[in-house]
Amino acid sequence: MKLARVAAFGAAAALVSAAHAQARFSVDEIEHGHKQFDRTCAQCHGRNMVNSGTTVYDLRRFPVDQPERFFNSVSNGKGNMPSFKEALSAEQIYLLWAYVGSRGGKEP
Ligand code: HEC
Repeated sequence: MKLARVAAFGAAAALVSAAHAQARFSVDEIEHGHKQFDRTCAQCHGRNMVNSGTTVYDLRRFPVDQPERFFNSVSNGKGNMPSFKEALSAEQIYLLWAYVGSRGGKEP
């Protein structure tokens, strides 16, 4: 079941990277992702992804054409960031990507 969900995300990620940079996600997806972000990510990455970027990765710089990297880092953790494999479903991570991927990739 979990594997199927991850595979579904992979397919979605491929679609997403193929799609044009803007208007890839619905407003609804981005909003859901934003709420999820506030619950699980903002304590480290900052509200609205705003942080100094000195000790915690500044997500506004995350490359929007690397959804697989996003999924891997969030699932498995990276450096001082814990793994979210148990806490979040692939769908939830996809919604987080909708938020980060639609706001990221910009110089702050
Ligand atoms: C406990 C603090 C903490 C929490 C909570 C946290 N992160 Fe992170 N995150 C970090 C740190 C520290 C890094 C830098 C890791 C490194 O490169 O060593 C990071 C890096 C990242 C990266 C960049 C990884 C890469 O490939 O370079 C992404 C994407 C990311 N976080 C997304 C998220 C998302 C989405 C959430 C919420 C589900 C989240 N983080 C929650 C601390 C956190």
